[in-house]
This record gives sequence, C-alpha cells and structure tokens, in this order.
Amino acid sequence: MRIPFGTISVTERSKELIRDILDSNRLSSGRYVREFEKRFAELVGAGEAVAVSSGTDADVLALAALYDFGAERGDEIILPALSFVATGNAVLAAGFTPVFVDVDLKTLNIDPLKIESAISEKTRAIMPVHLMGKPADMEAINGIAKKYDLRVIEDAAEAHGAVYKGKNAGTLGDMGAFSLYVAHIITTVEGGIITTDNEAYAEILRSLRSHGRACKCKSCILNTASAYCEKRFGSNGSGDIRFVFERIGYSSKMNEMEAAIGIGNLDIYNEILQKRRENLYYLLEKMKQFDRYIISIEKEHHEEIGPHALPMIVREGKGFTRNQLVKHLEKNGIDTRDLFTSMPTQCRGFEFRGYKHGDFPNAEYIGRNGTHIGVHQDLGKEECDYIINTIEDFLDKV
Ligand SMILES: Cc1ncc(COP(=O)(O)O)c(C=O)c1O
Repeated sequence: MRIPFGTISVTERSKELIRDILDSNRLSSGRYVREFEKRFAELVGAGEAVAVSSGTDADVLALAALYDFGAERGDEIILPALSFVATGNAVLAAGFTPVFVDVDLKTLNIDPLKIESAISEKTRAIMPVHLMGKPADMEAINGIAKKYDLRVIEDAAEAHGAVYKGKNAGTLGDMGAFSLYVAHIITTVEGGIITTDNEAYAEILRSLRSHGRACKCKSCILNTASAYCEKRFGSNGSGDIRFVFERIGYSSKMNEMEAAIGIGNLDIYNEILQKRRENLYYLLEKMKQFDRYIISIEKEHHEEIGPHALPMIVREGKGFTRNQLVKHLEKNGIDTRDLFTSMPTQCRGFEFRGYKHGDFPNAEYIGRNGTHIGVHQDLGKEECDYIINTIEDFLDKV
C-alpha cells in the first residue's frame, strides 16, 4: 500500500474555469481571485481576505503591514522556536528580528508562560503558529498582547478548519496567514491568504502584494474589464497612481488559474474537512495504545483540530530512534515528514541570532524525535488501519 503525505482535489468546475480563463487571456490576478477571497473570508468568518502567492508571503505581508502602524525595521516579533522554517524566514524577510520562545511538548505550540520574559521595548507582535492544526492557547496569548499593546498575527498555514473556543483559526488575532500549498486542506497549488476583520490592514495588504502601490481597490477594474480607471489619474494632476509607491512592497499576487483550483476546493470543502477530520481523530484514538513509545497530540474539549497531519514524537530511551521508525514507515510505503526543527538552534540560517543549543529543550526534542504523516481525503479506514498496523509491527520488534 502507498500512503502519500498529501493529495490535491481538482474539481471538474476548476477545470472548466481554467479553460475559460486560458481562453480569456486574463490570467493574472482578476475576478476569480476576488471571488476566491470573498468566499474564503466567508468560510473563516473574517471580514476580509487577501490572496497572495504563498503561505510564506502571507506571513511576510501580514508582518510588513505593521510598518504602517508604527513598527520600525529591526523591531522584534515573538514566535515559537518550533515551526516550519517559513515562519522564521518570513519574520526576517519582512525586515523584523525574530525572538524565539520554546513550545509546549503536549500541544507543539508556543508556551504562553514563556512569552512575557521575551518581550522588550522593541517587541511589536506575537506570531503564534497553530502547528499541525492544533490551536495555540489564544486566550493567554491575546491577554499578553493586550497587556503590552502588541499585535497578534496567527500563522494559520496548517490550521484550515481549526476551531478554538467557538471561533475559527484566522479570526483569533489581528490577522491570520494561511498557506494554500498542495498538502493543505484548501489548496490553490501554490498560494496563501491573509484574513482580517480590519479593513485598514486589508487595504495595506493589497498594496503590499503589488509592490506597495497606492491603489486601494478590492478588485482592479483594469484586471477585470481592461476598462478606463477613473481613480488612476487624480484630479490634481499628480500622475498615474499605479506608479506611486506608498510603502516598500512585494510581488506576491495570486493568479486566476490558482484561484480556480481554490474555488473548486471551496465547493467541496466540507467533504474534504470531514474526511480528514475522521481520519485524524480515528488515528489519534488508535495512537493512544502506543503512548508508552510515541507521543501525539490530544484533542481538547474547547477545540477542533484542523486535520492537517498526524504528528508523532518518539519517546527517548525506548530502544529505537525516530529515524528507525521513519525508515520502517517509508519502506512500507508510508510517506513521512520530519516534525520540523528548533529554528534558532537546529537551523543553520538562524545561528547569527546567537542562541545556544539547549535554550529550547522542547523544540529541540521534537526536532530530534518528531515526524508526521498525511491524513488527507484520499485515505480511508483501510489506509488508517494499515498505518496503525505498520507502527505496531515496528514496535513488536523493538
Ligand atoms: C507553519 C507554516 N508556516 C508557513 C508555511 C509556508 O507556506 P508555503 O509553503 O505556502 O509558503 C508553512 C508551509 O507549509 C507552514 O507549515
């Protein structure tokens, strides 16, 4: 049997839309991107959504929006030590300094008890990550943010469908940044999207994704109808606003074909989510029998986990290593991915920040011992049982 890590559902409607788009000659960001944004915002329950070209760019742009609200280059952003490296890269790409905080071994997420000691005069925001779709402790995080007047940007890359105390991921802070990469629950192949209830952020995000230009429209008339734009040449003779750049920007737009894949995914979102959630919760229940050897996450009563993947962390001193388990799974056709690394102490690129090995014991532990496997919509009970049996076979021989 083969258990790939991810899958992609391309619906018939997406294929039809792509054919129409190709025939229309309007391939770069236009009306389908706008439709996708509107529907994504509705789904999450946010006032606005701004589509971009990757989840990493979603993180970068959400952070870069803070410059319009008093942040300065080099200011500090607090983030968990353990995440996919894109979270840390994004902080640097946006021009900020990453300040790392260790994670909780049980939740995989930033440990709120360790946040306050990382705050300085230069801190501007906290960027929790809902790793593996498990919501971070947002009540505690928002409480700290309020006390120190900080913004909160959720890295919700892996958290489609996650719910925390009745509210969806992406609506729990000032902005939520989602990845729409293929392995994720809603995908546009490559892509990302930022949700927010604050129109001022949305306006700046639209400018940032298009080089920082002064245009403020939700959809560009030039991109949808190739018509004359009244706003382009102002009444005061100031020239073409498309060539007035109000802030340092990026080139991060989504294109129409990507949006068409995303629209198709939104049409079948409930089916995808339900299938993935069934798989994840079934596997989490079954994994409990291996708890002496392998830790996973637990669904708590106040939440729904966004069913991104099944994390597994090998307990040390049990006579086998993560790499031996992973080799066994891979040999038996089950795709694995390491459960990331402690960015500050296990990723060479962040050495310049001067952290020492041992500063983030939980993140480092997971970096040495963690892996994760897919729970996607192409898998069913038979595949889930195969995964459990394959792990059992391995443990029987330990
Ligand atoms: C936690 C986290 N943040 C950011 C990203 C970046 O997303 P992308 O690969 O779409 O750039 C990912 C990617 O999967 C992720 O897992």
